[in-house]
Amino acid sequence: MIELKDVTVRYPNGVVGLDGVNLTIPDGQFVVVVGLSGAGKSTLIRAINGLVPITSGSLTVDGQEVSGASKRELRRLRSGIGMIFQSFNLVKRTSVMNNVIMGQLHDVPAYRSLVGAWTKEEKEIAYRSLERVGIVEKAWTRASHLSGGQQQRVAIARALAQDPTVMLADEPVASLDPPTAQMVMKDLQRINRELSITTLVNLHFLDLARQFGQRVIGMRAGQVVFDGTGAEADDAVFEQIYGRSLTADDVLPGA
Ligand SMILES: Nc1ncnc2c1ncn2[C@@H]1O[C@H](COP(=O)(O)OP(=O)(O)OP(=O)(O)O)[C@@H](O)[C@H]1O
Ligand SMILES: [Mg+2]
Repeated sequence: MIELKDVTVRYPNGVVGLDGVNLTIPDGQFVVVVGLSGAGKSTLIRAINGLVPITSGSLTVDGQEVSGASKRELRRLRSGIGMIFQSFNLVKRTSVMNNVIMGQLHDVPAYRSLVGAWTKEEKEIAYRSLERVGIVEKAWTRASHLSGGQQQRVAIARALAQDPTVMLADEPVASLDPPTAQMVMKDLQRINRELSITTLVNLHFLDLARQFGQRVIGMRAGQVVFDGTGAEADDAVFEQIYGRSLTADDVLPGA
Protein backbone atom coordinates (compact mmCIF):
# COMPACT_ATOMS: atom_id res chain seq x y z
CA MET A 1 0.00 0.00 0.00
CA ILE A 2 1.16 3.50 -0.81
CA GLU A 3 0.00 6.16 1.60
CA LEU A 4 0.46 9.94 1.43
CA LYS A 5 -0.69 12.07 4.32
CA ASP A 6 -0.68 15.80 3.77
CA VAL A 7 2.43 15.56 1.58
CA THR A 8 4.05 18.75 0.37
CA VAL A 9 7.08 18.95 -1.91
CA ARG A 10 8.74 22.31 -2.21
CA TYR A 11 11.69 22.38 -4.59
CA PRO A 12 14.84 24.26 -3.52
CA ASN A 13 13.86 27.16 -5.80
CA GLY A 14 10.61 27.57 -3.87
CA VAL A 15 8.30 26.01 -6.47
CA VAL A 16 5.65 23.82 -4.86
CA GLY A 17 5.40 20.47 -6.69
CA LEU A 18 2.92 18.80 -4.33
CA ASP A 19 0.62 20.74 -2.08
CA GLY A 20 -1.02 18.88 0.80
CA VAL A 21 -1.67 15.61 -1.03
CA ASN A 22 -3.63 12.86 0.73
CA LEU A 23 -3.84 9.55 -1.12
CA THR A 24 -4.14 5.89 -0.26
CA ILE A 25 -3.36 3.45 -3.03
CA PRO A 26 -4.22 -0.12 -2.04
CA ASP A 27 -2.15 -3.08 -3.21
CA GLY A 28 -2.86 -4.18 -6.75
CA GLN A 29 -4.72 -1.06 -7.88
CA PHE A 30 -4.24 0.41 -11.38
CA VAL A 31 -4.20 4.19 -11.03
CA VAL A 32 -3.96 6.75 -13.81
CA VAL A 33 -2.85 10.28 -12.92
CA VAL A 34 -3.84 13.15 -15.22
CA GLY A 35 -3.32 16.89 -15.15
CA LEU A 36 -1.85 19.74 -17.13
CA SER A 37 1.87 20.17 -17.59
CA GLY A 38 3.30 21.30 -14.26
CA ALA A 39 0.42 19.83 -12.22
CA GLY A 40 2.78 17.64 -10.19
CA LYS A 41 2.37 14.21 -11.81
CA SER A 42 6.10 13.49 -12.12
CA THR A 43 6.77 14.96 -8.70
CA LEU A 44 4.29 12.47 -7.24
CA ILE A 45 6.11 9.55 -8.86
CA ARG A 46 9.53 10.84 -7.85
CA ALA A 47 8.41 11.38 -4.27
CA ILE A 48 7.11 7.81 -4.04
CA ASN A 49 10.43 6.30 -5.02
CA GLY A 50 12.41 8.76 -2.95
CA LEU A 51 14.02 10.68 -5.83
CA VAL A 52 12.50 13.93 -4.60
CA PRO A 53 12.40 14.56 -0.84
CA ILE A 54 9.08 15.57 0.66
CA THR A 55 9.10 18.80 2.64
CA SER A 56 6.30 17.89 5.04
CA GLY A 57 3.74 15.18 5.69
CA SER A 58 4.22 11.44 5.58
CA LEU A 59 4.72 9.11 2.62
CA THR A 60 4.93 5.37 3.17
CA VAL A 61 5.31 2.42 0.81
CA ASP A 62 4.31 -0.86 2.47
CA GLY A 63 4.64 0.84 5.82
CA GLN A 64 8.16 2.10 5.16
CA GLU A 65 8.53 5.85 5.53
CA VAL A 66 10.29 7.07 2.37
CA SER A 67 11.46 10.39 3.69
CA GLY A 68 14.33 9.96 6.12
CA ALA A 69 15.00 6.40 4.94
CA SER A 70 18.63 5.33 5.16
CA LYS A 71 20.58 4.67 1.95
CA ARG A 72 20.13 0.97 2.53
CA GLU A 73 16.37 1.29 3.09
CA LEU A 74 16.05 3.46 0.00
CA ARG A 75 17.89 0.87 -2.08
CA ARG A 76 15.54 -1.81 -0.83
CA LEU A 77 12.51 0.39 -1.50
CA ARG A 78 13.67 1.12 -5.04
CA SER A 79 14.43 -2.50 -5.78
CA GLY A 80 10.71 -3.16 -5.19
CA ILE A 81 9.59 -0.35 -7.51
CA GLY A 82 9.77 -0.73 -11.29
CA MET A 83 10.16 2.57 -13.15
CA ILE A 84 9.00 3.24 -16.71
CA PHE A 85 9.75 6.50 -18.53
CA GLN A 86 8.58 8.24 -21.69
CA SER A 87 12.05 7.91 -23.20
CA PHE A 88 12.41 4.16 -22.36
CA ASN A 89 15.91 4.71 -20.88
CA LEU A 90 17.46 1.57 -22.34
CA VAL A 91 21.17 1.12 -22.87
CA LYS A 92 20.92 1.35 -26.64
CA ARG A 93 24.19 -0.22 -27.70
CA THR A 94 23.70 -3.49 -25.89
CA SER A 95 21.28 -6.39 -26.27
CA VAL A 96 17.72 -6.59 -25.02
CA MET A 97 18.84 -9.45 -22.78
CA ASN A 98 21.55 -7.37 -21.12
CA ASN A 99 19.11 -4.53 -20.59
CA VAL A 100 16.55 -6.78 -18.93
CA ILE A 101 19.07 -8.60 -16.74
CA MET A 102 20.44 -5.29 -15.50
CA GLY A 103 16.96 -4.62 -14.09
CA GLN A 104 17.35 -7.49 -11.65
CA LEU A 105 20.75 -6.46 -10.44
CA HIS A 106 20.86 -3.22 -8.61
CA ASP A 107 24.34 -3.76 -7.29
CA VAL A 108 25.89 -5.69 -10.13
CA PRO A 109 29.65 -5.27 -10.49
CA ALA A 110 30.32 -3.26 -13.65
CA TYR A 111 32.58 -5.90 -15.22
CA ARG A 112 29.72 -8.41 -15.29
CA SER A 113 27.54 -6.13 -17.34
CA LEU A 114 30.49 -5.41 -19.64
CA VAL A 115 31.21 -9.04 -20.41
CA GLY A 116 27.59 -10.17 -20.13
CA ALA A 117 28.54 -12.87 -17.62
CA TRP A 118 25.05 -13.74 -16.50
CA THR A 119 23.95 -16.79 -14.57
CA LYS A 120 21.46 -19.25 -15.97
CA GLU A 121 18.89 -18.12 -13.42
CA GLU A 122 19.32 -14.45 -14.33
CA LYS A 123 18.78 -15.30 -17.98
CA GLU A 124 15.70 -17.36 -17.18
CA ILE A 125 14.12 -14.51 -15.24
CA ALA A 126 14.85 -12.20 -18.17
CA TYR A 127 13.30 -14.64 -20.67
CA ARG A 128 10.19 -14.95 -18.52
CA SER A 129 9.86 -11.16 -18.28
CA LEU A 130 10.27 -10.79 -22.04
CA GLU A 131 7.61 -13.46 -22.56
CA ARG A 132 5.17 -11.44 -20.46
CA VAL A 133 5.41 -8.57 -22.94
CA GLY A 134 5.55 -10.83 -25.98
CA ILE A 135 8.99 -10.02 -27.36
CA VAL A 136 11.13 -12.91 -26.26
CA GLU A 137 12.27 -13.34 -29.88
CA LYS A 138 14.09 -10.01 -29.60
CA ALA A 139 16.23 -11.13 -26.65
CA TRP A 140 19.50 -10.95 -28.56
CA THR A 141 18.67 -7.91 -30.67
CA ARG A 142 20.54 -4.70 -30.00
CA ALA A 143 18.19 -2.31 -28.19
CA SER A 144 18.87 0.46 -30.72
CA HIS A 145 17.39 -1.73 -33.47
CA LEU A 146 13.93 -1.84 -31.89
CA SER A 147 10.90 0.34 -32.56
CA GLY A 148 9.69 2.69 -29.84
CA GLY A 149 6.92 0.33 -28.78
CA GLN A 150 9.32 -2.59 -28.61
CA GLN A 151 11.77 -0.53 -26.58
CA GLN A 152 9.04 0.36 -24.12
CA ARG A 153 8.14 -3.32 -23.81
CA VAL A 154 11.77 -4.11 -23.05
CA ALA A 155 11.71 -1.39 -20.41
CA ILE A 156 8.61 -3.02 -18.89
CA ALA A 157 10.35 -6.41 -18.98
CA ARG A 158 13.40 -4.87 -17.31
CA ALA A 159 11.17 -3.50 -14.54
CA LEU A 160 9.44 -6.89 -14.18
CA ALA A 161 12.76 -8.70 -13.89
CA GLN A 162 13.36 -6.94 -10.59
CA ASP A 163 10.15 -8.59 -9.27
CA PRO A 164 8.54 -5.34 -8.14
CA THR A 165 5.45 -4.88 -6.01
CA VAL A 166 4.90 -1.40 -7.44
CA MET A 167 5.23 -0.07 -10.99
CA LEU A 168 5.52 3.67 -11.59
CA ALA A 169 5.19 4.83 -15.20
CA ASP A 170 5.76 8.48 -16.09
CA GLU A 171 4.06 9.18 -19.45
CA PRO A 172 4.98 5.72 -20.78
CA VAL A 173 3.16 6.17 -24.10
CA ALA A 174 3.78 9.85 -24.82
CA SER A 175 6.34 9.06 -27.56
CA LEU A 176 4.33 6.29 -29.22
CA ASP A 177 1.80 6.27 -32.05
CA PRO A 178 -1.83 5.59 -31.04
CA PRO A 179 -2.07 1.84 -31.78
CA THR A 180 1.28 1.22 -30.10
CA ALA A 181 0.22 3.32 -27.12
CA GLN A 182 -2.85 1.10 -26.79
CA MET A 183 -0.72 -2.03 -26.85
CA VAL A 184 1.71 -0.79 -24.24
CA MET A 185 -1.16 0.29 -21.96
CA LYS A 186 -2.72 -3.16 -22.40
CA ASP A 187 0.61 -4.76 -21.44
CA LEU A 188 0.73 -2.68 -18.26
CA GLN A 189 -2.89 -3.52 -17.47
CA ARG A 190 -2.42 -7.24 -18.08
CA ILE A 191 0.69 -7.34 -15.91
CA ASN A 192 -1.16 -5.47 -13.17
CA ARG A 193 -3.94 -8.03 -13.25
CA GLU A 194 -1.79 -11.14 -13.58
CA LEU A 195 0.82 -10.22 -11.00
CA SER A 196 -1.17 -7.80 -8.80
CA ILE A 197 1.54 -5.18 -9.13
CA THR A 198 0.27 -1.84 -7.85
CA THR A 199 0.56 0.44 -10.88
CA LEU A 200 0.59 4.21 -11.13
CA VAL A 201 0.65 5.67 -14.65
CA ASN A 202 0.90 9.36 -15.56
CA LEU A 203 -0.95 9.99 -18.79
CA HIS A 204 -1.62 12.88 -21.09
CA PHE A 205 -4.45 11.47 -23.11
CA LEU A 206 -7.88 11.56 -21.53
CA ASP A 207 -9.38 8.73 -23.53
CA LEU A 208 -6.59 6.40 -22.40
CA ALA A 209 -7.11 7.55 -18.82
CA ARG A 210 -10.81 6.71 -19.05
CA GLN A 211 -10.20 3.41 -20.73
CA PHE A 212 -7.51 2.10 -18.42
CA GLY A 213 -7.97 3.98 -15.16
CA GLN A 214 -9.54 1.63 -12.67
CA ARG A 215 -9.05 4.78 -10.67
CA VAL A 216 -8.30 8.23 -12.12
CA ILE A 217 -6.60 10.91 -10.06
CA GLY A 218 -6.72 14.46 -11.38
CA MET A 219 -4.04 16.91 -10.30
CA ARG A 220 -3.90 20.66 -10.58
CA ALA A 221 -1.23 22.95 -9.17
CA GLY A 222 0.14 20.21 -6.91
CA GLN A 223 -3.23 19.25 -5.48
CA VAL A 224 -5.55 16.30 -6.01
CA VAL A 225 -8.71 17.80 -7.49
CA PHE A 226 -10.42 14.60 -8.66
CA ASP A 227 -10.34 11.03 -7.46
CA GLY A 228 -12.79 8.62 -9.03
CA THR A 229 -13.29 5.89 -11.60
CA GLY A 230 -12.51 6.21 -15.29
CA ALA A 231 -16.25 6.02 -15.97
CA GLU A 232 -16.90 9.00 -13.70
CA ALA A 233 -14.21 11.07 -15.41
CA ASP A 234 -16.36 12.70 -18.07
CA ASP A 235 -15.53 15.82 -20.10
CA ALA A 236 -16.88 18.13 -17.38
CA VAL A 237 -14.54 16.52 -14.84
CA PHE A 238 -11.57 16.90 -17.16
CA GLU A 239 -12.41 20.53 -17.85
CA GLN A 240 -12.41 21.07 -14.12
CA ILE A 241 -9.04 19.30 -13.73
CA TYR A 242 -7.53 21.21 -16.64
CA GLY A 243 -9.21 24.51 -15.86
CA ARG A 244 -10.04 24.95 -19.55
CA SER A 245 -12.10 23.45 -22.38
CA LEU A 246 -10.83 20.23 -23.94
CA THR A 247 -9.10 20.28 -27.29
CA ALA A 248 -8.21 17.68 -29.92
CA ASP A 249 -4.74 17.49 -28.34
CA ASP A 250 -6.25 15.99 -25.21
CA VAL A 251 -7.33 12.78 -26.90
CA LEU A 252 -5.26 10.17 -28.66
CA PRO A 253 -5.70 10.76 -32.40
CA GLY A 254 -7.35 7.90 -34.23
CA ALA A 255 -7.64 5.65 -31.19
N1 LIG B 1 13.70 19.86 -10.22
C1 LIG B 1 12.81 20.85 -10.10
N2 LIG B 1 13.16 22.03 -9.55
C2 LIG B 1 12.26 23.02 -9.42
N3 LIG B 1 10.98 22.94 -9.80
C3 LIG B 1 10.57 21.79 -10.36
C4 LIG B 1 11.46 20.68 -10.54
N4 LIG B 1 10.77 19.69 -11.13
C5 LIG B 1 9.52 20.13 -11.29
N5 LIG B 1 9.39 21.40 -10.84
C6 LIG B 1 8.16 22.22 -10.81
O1 LIG B 1 7.20 21.54 -10.02
C7 LIG B 1 5.91 21.65 -10.63
C8 LIG B 1 5.38 20.25 -10.91
O2 LIG B 1 6.20 19.68 -11.92
P1 LIG B 1 6.03 18.19 -12.46
O3 LIG B 1 7.20 17.88 -13.29
O4 LIG B 1 5.73 17.29 -11.33
O5 LIG B 1 4.72 18.35 -13.35
P2 LIG B 1 4.05 17.30 -14.35
O6 LIG B 1 2.62 17.24 -13.99
O7 LIG B 1 4.82 16.05 -14.38
O8 LIG B 1 4.17 18.07 -15.76
P3 LIG B 1 4.42 17.47 -17.25
O9 LIG B 1 3.08 17.04 -17.74
O10 LIG B 1 4.94 18.65 -18.00
O11 LIG B 1 5.42 16.37 -17.15
C9 LIG B 1 6.09 22.52 -11.86
O12 LIG B 1 5.78 23.83 -11.51
C10 LIG B 1 7.56 22.38 -12.19
O13 LIG B 1 8.04 23.52 -12.83
MG1 LIG C 1 5.89 15.05 -15.83
